[in-house]
Amino acid sequence: MLLSSTCCLVFLLLLNHVDTGRVMWKIKERVRDVQLQKAKQHLLTYTVGGSQLVRHVKEGRIHQPLDHFNQQDIGTFPQKFFVNEAYWQHPDGPVFLFIGGEGPIFESDLLGGHHVEMAEKHRALLLTLEHRFYGDSINSDGLETENLAYLSSQQALTDLAVFHQYISQTFNLSRRNTWISFGGSYSGALSAWFRGKFPHLVYGAVASSAPVEAKLDFSAYNNIVGLSLTNEAVGGSEKCLASVQEAFAAVEGALMGGNASQLAKDFGCCQIPKDLNDQIELMENLADIVMGTVQYNEEGVLMSINELCSVMTNDSGTYVEQTEAYSRLVKLAQIYHSMSEEPCLDISHEKTLKDLMNTTLHSGRNPERQWTYQTCTEFGFYQTCEDLTCPFSGMLTLQTSTKLCPMLFGISQHSLPAHITFTNTYYGGIGAQTHRVLYVNGGLDPWKELSVVQARTEEGQTQVVFIEDTAHCADMMRSDVTERHSLKKARQDIENHVASWLKMAAQEKTE
Ligand SMILES: *[C@@H]1O[C@H](CO)[C@@H](O)[C@H](O)[C@H]1NC(C)=O
Ligand SMILES: *[C@@H]1O[C@H](CO)[C@@H](O)[C@H](O)[C@H]1NC(C)=O
Ligand SMILES: *[C@@H]1O[C@H](CO)[C@@H](O)[C@H](O)[C@H]1NC(C)=O
Ligand SMILES: *[C@@H]1O[C@H](CO)[C@@H](O)[C@H](O)[C@H]1NC(C)=O
Repeated sequence: MLLSSTCCLVFLLLLNHVDTGRVMWKIKERVRDVQLQKAKQHLLTYTVGGSQLVRHVKEGRIHQPLDHFNQQDIGTFPQKFFVNEAYWQHPDGPVFLFIGGEGPIFESDLLGGHHVEMAEKHRALLLTLEHRFYGDSINSDGLETENLAYLSSQQALTDLAVFHQYISQTFNLSRRNTWISFGGSYSGALSAWFRGKFPHLVYGAVASSAPVEAKLDFSAYNNIVGLSLTNEAVGGSEKCLASVQEAFAAVEGALMGGNASQLAKDFGCCQIPKDLNDQIELMENLADIVMGTVQYNEEGVLMSINELCSVMTNDSGTYVEQTEAYSRLVKLAQIYHSMSEEPCLDISHEKTLKDLMNTTLHSGRNPERQWTYQTCTEFGFYQTCEDLTCPFSGMLTLQTSTKLCPMLFGISQHSLPAHITFTNTYYGGIGAQTHRVLYVNGGLDPWKELSVVQARTEEGQTQVVFIEDTAHCADMMRSDVTERHSLKKARQDIENHVASWLKMAAQEKTE
């Protein structure tokens, strides 16, 4: 057995999110850090023997074939996993598998979150497996373009199947142990697909905010961002959306008018956005602040939609009328700035490219290069702004997003539609006939557009939980005393589904 006890307290809770743009990645990191603090606080303040619990989480590695689909290829890579046996009722208790997505996994993935609460209740064995080519689960030359050929969701699902076999052997499991998978965002899609492709291995799957439909031009993302900014239930308004639109038009106007140095000063940029690529980078980063606010509304990072809209619309009377919306956006950027640890807003496109082309494994293990590869080869998901409903700038085009594919990986732009089509043919997209998959989505979350939000009664088995006023993956976090009623109710729904699957499985096994 390759299990060893973990000694240090690492309380980073990984939340998987699928985005592009430098500021968005930073916001994403912040989501994780905030969860880290919360989990730490909770474990130390409210749990008797919290540090003992941590000791139950063990780390292990398995050596996976690099290529599951070519038996002549003998290459392998080390794949990291964690196991938490603290709640498991030996030997017949169920197995809850928390699937890793586009980033590293942490011990805290098995110490906090809704799936952990359910594992405690059902006395389940808790597992998480890191996704190949992310975190530590990569060979030292893994980021070379030729080796990225082994990075795909198909290989990742097969890793899960091999892991299932390995764990079954190690823990002497049998068909009496019912497996349920969990995941959010990309790993939510993997959870749904794992059940779809390997129904004999996993009895039911919860897929939170899971974009199961690949999409090249994901213009609908920003359409929903705009709609969420008008949602009065969370502090939005038509006026707020109009003010955001006006502000971005003003930034665009200033760029066209050759006022780049003024912009750089106002938005605290590290460079003056002289060439078009840097200007696009600036637009993308400013849009990310708004996109990130909507996507993670009320999840304890950055601002809420309510706060953003109050900056964009309050009657402070201190603004000059002609430049009012612009000045409010400057204020928003300052708020972002005060929360980030960057001395200035980096808008160098050259630097972005250099980072994406860097094939040495960084200590920070940024997942950007790998994830960009997966967007080129499998998913698209480009959050463009060419559609008239987009609140930002038409400078954010499909062309600028997809040109990274040939530049970084030699993948031609015109091959992309076929890759997207293949993904949807292979998995079935939102029309897949998956039984016992529970799709959970939030009404504010732009990713709901690529997920399943309506139950299909004809098969009676595609089940959904839709939470009107929450954002991305909100259901997955530890339940909090201060949260919305709708979220409490949604969690209860999810628990009922999981409980009914386990009951059904138990009945089948005694027959
Ligand atoms: C494995 O499980 C089976 C049936 O549950 C049991 O008979 C056997 O003794 C177990 N073996 C070990 C090594 O625990
Ligand atoms: C450039 O910026 C200055 C100072 O903010 C402003 O007075 C001027 O109107 C701007 N020019 C254009 C063309 O936007
Ligand atoms: C309006 O927003 C500005 C910028 O955030 C803030 O300084 C000011 O206090 C706000 N005024 C009111 C009345 O909320
Ligand atoms: C790649 O990244 C590493 C680690 O951050 C850095 O030390 C190295 O200089 C970078 N290489 C290039 C070519 O930028």
